[in-house]
Amino acid sequence: MEKQELLYEGKAKKLYKTSESDVIWVEYLNQATALNGKKKDLIKGKGSLNNQITSLVFRMLTEAGVPNHFKKKLSETEQLIEAMTMFPLEVVLRNVSAGSFSKRFDVKEGTPLAKPIIEFYLKDDKLDDPMMNEDHIQLLGLATAKEIKEIKKMTLEVNKVLQKLFKEIDIQLVDFKLEFGKQADGTILLADEISPDTCRLWDVKTGEHLDKDVYRRDLGNLVPVYQEVFERLLKLESI
Ligand code: TMP
Repeated sequence: MEKQELLYEGKAKKLYKTSESDVIWVEYLNQATALNGKKKDLIKGKGSLNNQITSLVFRMLTEAGVPNHFKKKLSETEQLIEAMTMFPLEVVLRNVSAGSFSKRFDVKEGTPLAKPIIEFYLKDDKLDDPMMNEDHIQLLGLATAKEIKEIKKMTLEVNKVLQKLFKEIDIQLVDFKLEFGKQADGTILLADEISPDTCRLWDVKTGEHLDKDVYRRDLGNLVPVYQEVFERLLKLESI
C-alpha cells in the first residue's frame, strides 16, 4: 500500500489517497485547536497519542460489533481507514451536563442527565457548526429519516460499549462527538476518531479532566493527560 496525494487537511489530521480507491491513509497531526480554530498550538506528541488511542478504541468497538471504518494502525501517527461518503454532521451524545450544554441551558456542569441525549451539529467551520434537528438534516438533504435513525441507534450502542470500557479504568464518559459515513451500498459506518480530543473523560476518583478541556480551559499540559488515558486503555487490553 502506498501513500499518494493529499485529499484533505483538517485541523488535527491529514488524509491521503492510496493505491486502493477504497482505502485512505490518515496522518494524525500535533496541532491542537479550540474555539473553532481561534486558539491554536503545536503540541508535540499529541498526534501520536490520539492515533494510538483512536486505533485501540476502534479495535475494541469492532470486537463489540460496532461497524466502523478502521482498518489498521500503520505507525505511531498513521492509520488506514475505509473511504466513504461522509455525512457532514457532528453527532454529540451526553451522559452528564458539561460544556456547551451547561452553558446553553444553564445546567451545572456534572449534573447527570436522566438518559443519554443526542445532538446534531452541521459540520461547517464558516457557519461555526450550528446545532440542528432531524427536520433540518432531512430538509437540507444531509441524511434520510432512516439514516438518522440508524446513526442514533449506533451512537447509543457506542455509548454503551464505551461507558463500560471507561468505567473499568475509572473514567466517567461525560460526553463525546462521533462522525459517520456511508459506503457505496448504503451501509453506515462509524468514522473519524474517538480520543480525548472528541470525548469528555473525567477521572472517577478525583474528578480531574482527562481530555481536551485541559487545553480549552488552560488547565495545564495536555500530553501527560492523554498519555494517562492511553496507558489506562492499554491495561484493558491485557485484561
Ligand atoms: P460541547 O459541550 O462543546 O458541545 O462538546 C460536546 C462534546 O463533543 C465534547 O466531548 C467535545 C466534542 N466536540 C468535538 O469533538 N468537536 C467539536 O468541534 C465540538 C464543538 C465538540
